[in-house]
Amino acid sequence: MLNKIQELKGAIEALQASSMEEIEAARIKYLSKKGEISQLFNDFRNVPNEMKREIGQRLNELKTLATEKINSLKAAFEDNADANAELDLTRTAAPCAIGTRHPLSLVKEEIIAIFSRLGYTIAEGPEVEDDWHVFSSLNFAADHPARDMQDTFFIQRNPDILLRTHTSSVQTRVMEHTQPPIRIICPGRVYRNEAISYRAHCFFHQVEGLYVDKGVTFADLKQTLLYFAREMFGPETKIRLRPSYFPFTEPSAEMDISCDLCGGKGCNFCKHTGWVEILGCGMVDPNVLESCGIDSNVYSGFALGMGIERITNLKYRVKDLRMFSENDVRFLEEFKPVH
Ligand code: DAH
Repeated sequence: MLNKIQELKGAIEALQASSMEEIEAARIKYLSKKGEISQLFNDFRNVPNEMKREIGQRLNELKTLATEKINSLKAAFEDNADANAELDLTRTAAPCAIGTRHPLSLVKEEIIAIFSRLGYTIAEGPEVEDDWHVFSSLNFAADHPARDMQDTFFIQRNPDILLRTHTSSVQTRVMEHTQPPIRIICPGRVYRNEAISYRAHCFFHQVEGLYVDKGVTFADLKQTLLYFAREMFGPETKIRLRPSYFPFTEPSAEMDISCDLCGGKGCNFCKHTGWVEILGCGMVDPNVLESCGIDSNVYSGFALGMGIERITNLKYRVKDLRMFSENDVRFLEEFKPVH
C-alpha cells in the first residue's frame, strides 16, 4: 500500500494539462468515487491495525495533494483563458508619448522645401574634409585667416584633414563631378574652434545654395533671395543687400531682412537698425568654377550660405544657442506641432 501511495504521489506531482477536459479527466482518475485514491481508502479497511496510523496519515496527505494540484491547474488555466479573452485586437492602442522634431530640423526642412519649389535638389558631403574642398578650391589664399588653428579643427594634427568649417565644401564636391546646369542646396553640420557661449558654438548648421548655368546673373540671385525671404518670413518681408567679401564669390554680399519684431522701426533685436543679417551670397568666382573643371567663359553662377541656427533664432527667438544641443525636453516640447 505504501508503494502504491508513493507511486500515485509521483504521478500527481508530475501532472500537467493543456485543457479543462484533461484536468477533469485527472480529477476523475484520482478523486472521483471510483478513482484511485478513493480505491485506496476502501482498501484501508484491510490494513493491519498497527499500520493504520501511518498509512492513514499518508493517504490523507495524498488526497490533499491531489485536490490542491487539480485546483491549481484549474486556476492557472482560467487565468490564461481570461488573458486570451481580454486580447481585443480592435481596441485603441494605449497612448504613447511621441517625440518632437528638433527646431533645427524643422527649419532645415522648411528651407529645403522652399528651394525645392525652385527646382533645387539636395547634395551632401562629408563632415571630415580635406583642405582642398574646404579652402583651396574655394579660392582661399594660402595665408587666409580662416585656415588659422583658431577656427579650424584639424584631425590628428594633419593640416590636410579637418572638420569642415562651412558647407561651401559641398559646392566643390558636386562641381568637380558634374557639369552645369547645377542647382543644389546642401544642408549640414559644420565645426569651428570657438569658445562656447550663448551666441557661439563649436558646431552649428548651415545650408549652402548653388546655381550654375549659362547666363546666370546677379538679378537671378536677388530674385531667388527675395522669394526665399518672403516664403520663410512672410510676404511683407523686405530684403537689403550689402557689399561684402568672401574668397569664393565676386561680387559678394550679405543679405539683411527687415526686422519683423519691430516692423523695421528699430528695436533691441535689430540693434535699432530695422534690419537683421541672415546670409552671405555672391556670384561664384570664376577661379572656383575653373578649379572644379567648369569653363567660366561659358558658365556663371551664384552661391549663398546661411546658418540654420540664425534662421531658427529669427523665427523662434531662441536666446541661447546652447539650448539647441542640450536636449532638454522642456525646450524641445515647445516645438510640438499644434493639431
Ligand atoms: N561659407 C560662408 C560662411 O561659412 C557662407 C557663405 C557666404 C556661403 C557666401 C556662400 C556665399 O555660398 O556665397 O560664412
